[in-house]
Amino acid sequence: MPATMEAAGREALVEDILRLKRERRAVILAHNYQRPEIQDLADFVGDSLGLSQKAKSLDADVIAFCGVRFMAETASILNPSKTVLLPDALAGCGMADMISVDALLDLKEAHPGALVVAYVNTSAEIKAESDICCTSSNAVDVVNSLPKDAEVIFIPDKYLGAYVARRSGRRLVLYEGWCPVHMEIKEEGVAALKRRIPGAVVLAHPEAPPDVVSMADWVLSTEQMVVKVRELEGPDFIIATETGIIHKMRRENPGKRFHAADDFAVCPHMKMNDLERLRAALRDLGPEVRVPGAIRERAWLPIQRMLDLGLPSKDGFVGCRC
Ligand code: 13P
Ligand code: SF4
Repeated sequence: MPATMEAAGREALVEDILRLKRERRAVILAHNYQRPEIQDLADFVGDSLGLSQKAKSLDADVIAFCGVRFMAETASILNPSKTVLLPDALAGCGMADMISVDALLDLKEAHPGALVVAYVNTSAEIKAESDICCTSSNAVDVVNSLPKDAEVIFIPDKYLGAYVARRSGRRLVLYEGWCPVHMEIKEEGVAALKRRIPGAVVLAHPEAPPDVVSMADWVLSTEQMVVKVRELEGPDFIIATETGIIHKMRRENPGKRFHAADDFAVCPHMKMNDLERLRAALRDLGPEVRVPGAIRERAWLPIQRMLDLGLPSKDGFVGCRC
């Protein structure tokens, strides 16, 4: 029996979503930064790579993608016969918006013959102009897979790019893009937490600024972080990424303590999806994300090349201590 009107309302919402999900033969995919109530309802919660792999192999009619536009686009590119829903059509990505096709074409012109590695946090149009994609979990592997003598342009995240350059030992041409959410995480904040909680293990996402990354015990994609905190004893962990991931960590590790490196590292785009919008999306079969044919065909190739490399190798694994 729900204790309050609010709880009763939420229960009814959840029931509607589950019923619509069955009627629509839908699967709910959620990124690790989604609101707790969305994560709890989802069929699969993961990072960009895991969600892409899932989207490719799904046998549902509808994919309700609780994440941001570039993730829903990737799902639609990989599985175009499905209806891919993004509960809030405006859920974009501050970093993906920093690079335009014209800017990329200028960069390619300035570096003729260079190979372009596009972080998946880019639009389908940008992917269509790129040679291979990467995510935060396989970026080192992807760059290591390229011919040693090739010049490589890495877009759009200068921080992930700088990290990959250091780990792979290769010179990369970087673009001036970054994540406005991870940019908020400051070295002083992490240092203060480390002083207050001696022995705490620091996990940072490679989108974080280099001074934060250099303080980390582990540099990991979001799902790699979830796996790592399961493996380590802790009991205290400082999490230098978007705060939504801490829900999953707490749920899976009741005896461990998780401290956000910055409580304000909250991605406004990720949080646009909520239960009401998810219900409306499943009911109305919209907003739908579909990538036009010509762009889809060209954007598919760099994504598929990345997937063909398989899972991150032990060497390329972004999460090495460094
Ligand atoms: P992951 O691929 O590590 O989940 O990261 C996606 C993202 O947008 C981080 O800001
Ligand atoms: Fe984009 Fe940053 Fe939000 Fe990730 S956290 S979706 S990179 S704005």
